[in-house]
Amino acid sequence: MIKFLDIHKINNRFEEELKNEFHTFLNSGQYILGDALKQFEAVYANYCGTDYCLGVSNGLDALTLIFNGFKTLGRLKAGDQVIVPANTYIASVLSIINSGLEPVLVEPCEKTYNISATELEKHITKKTKAVMAVHLYGQLANMELIKDLARKYNLIVIEDAAQSHGAMDTNGNKAGNFSNAAAFSFYPTKNLGALGDAGAVTTNDEELYKIIKKLRNYGSEKKYVSELVGFNNRMDELQAVFLNMKLKFLDVDNEFFLEGELPSDI
Ligand SMILES: Cc1ncc(COP(=O)(O)O)c(C=O)c1O
Repeated sequence: MIKFLDIHKINNRFEEELKNEFHTFLNSGQYILGDALKQFEAVYANYCGTDYCLGVSNGLDALTLIFNGFKTLGRLKAGDQVIVPANTYIASVLSIINSGLEPVLVEPCEKTYNISATELEKHITKKTKAVMAVHLYGQLANMELIKDLARKYNLIVIEDAAQSHGAMDTNGNKAGNFSNAAAFSFYPTKNLGALGDAGAVTTNDEELYKIIKKLRNYGSEKKYVSELVGFNNRMDELQAVFLNMKLKFLDVDNEFFLEGELPSDI
């Protein structure tokens, strides 16, 4: 029997390195918001081509933090409509509802299974303030058309890039860098998968970055000073340790996922 996805085989390659890294991690005493997370954020931002990356607890929280960040900045308010593809994973829609916003479901293009720009425009109303583009199955949504519409109707664009680590257009622009802010999931079955839950937000918006950095950590930047009504949405340091090792092989793995074989000699 051939397994559809053999996570054990994917992660087994890192066992020896992980044992060594675990030793360093254990002795570091930095188990939350430590150097491994800082390193991951810097390298993943660079990989996506964005100015900023924040490691967070999972993909759903990454999306929810983005919406709450925009609300905190006054760029979205309760009841605003967000357009989202009807065939996306439930998390995309939940992040909108859980942020006090209203999801408007739009059917996909039948060729790409991504949101149809023609359908999208038909659903824009006075209450529409944002569009969530989801790059489903590793395939980029038509960001040029979506961004044109966003400019025309003054909409915020958010990418749900949970299924598209490293997906790029013909100019080499990568998922996570086509919008005001993007959310990634590192759920174990994703192309870049952690050993548990993890996620990230990427953005070029410094204001949003600063707000989300506080929101993910109890609304706080300084210990015991909570400026915002925040959450506990930090990425575990141990997940960052593992993702730092695995990120180096993301491009190679993406190639091999396409081919159907994994390199065993990393
Ligand atoms: C398109 C999409 N969005 C969001 C998520 C949520 O990610 P997580 O499970 O890390 O919360 C997923 C994960 O399956 C997904 O596929």
